[in-house]
Amino acid sequence: MIDETSESPPENPQSLPLIVGNWKMHNNITDSIKLITALKNLLKEPLGVEVVLAPPYTSLYSVAIANQETSFKLGAQNCYWEDEGAFTGEVSAPFLKDVGCDYVILGHSERRSLFAETDEMVNKKIHAALSADLIPIFCVGENLKEREGKKTFEVIEKQLRKGLNDITMHDLENFVIAYEPVWAIGTGNNASPAQAGEVHSFIRNFLAKLYDAPTAHRIRILYGGSVKASNIRDLMKANDMNGALVGGASLNAEEFAKIIHF
Ligand code: PGA
Repeated sequence: MIDETSESPPENPQSLPLIVGNWKMHNNITDSIKLITALKNLLKEPLGVEVVLAPPYTSLYSVAIANQETSFKLGAQNCYWEDEGAFTGEVSAPFLKDVGCDYVILGHSERRSLFAETDEMVNKKIHAALSADLIPIFCVGENLKEREGKKTFEVIEKQLRKGLNDITMHDLENFVIAYEPVWAIGTGNNASPAQAGEVHSFIRNFLAKLYDAPTAHRIRILYGGSVKASNIRDLMKANDMNGALVGGASLNAEEFAKIIHF
């Protein structure tokens, strides 16, 4: 007889830490397959964390196919806010869903600074992603001048307020916010766990005011900016920390596997 009481309850994915690999504009199809194959060989399922791989658009399909017998989820790095039409060069949220994405990174600081994305544009993209049943990974973060000018909370609050314009509590059933201080991205200088935790708690409290406490509690808040195998364990101990958005270190299978197994 099966003792049903001894079975562990199914894991609620939202309660698992979330580790996202943002490959940025790295890895053609061949290199993408190599990386995911190496990762599969290094990692033991169940992973104990939820892992999202966000390759460039051109590798999404191949990674989706290579991904079939793993529990990795697929994410994109951007999307456009219209579903289809004469928008040369853009890719819509429903197309990303169609290729197998569950997640989409929106409002990354490189999109904001290099491609002139405004808070209003990020807001439209968040609406489009939610309509296509994609989970947004909404990035916010201050630059060095803003931090030194003690404007961090002001900047984060403005990005949250504008990015979440007309987003309802119901829309936030499954939603991710990534705190990525611009000064920590790609610099090797990660925020300290105390610095990250302070901003994460600010974000959580602000969301509780904007919506309510259960909604704020449900939203996963990630830290991004020079996350490595050597700092992930300490960062994960920070207040209100639900995971990491990893750039450079996600391009190396050994390093990323260590981060996932933190
Ligand atoms: P990094 O990038 O880990 O290379 O600093 C993080 C990001 O931009 O998401």
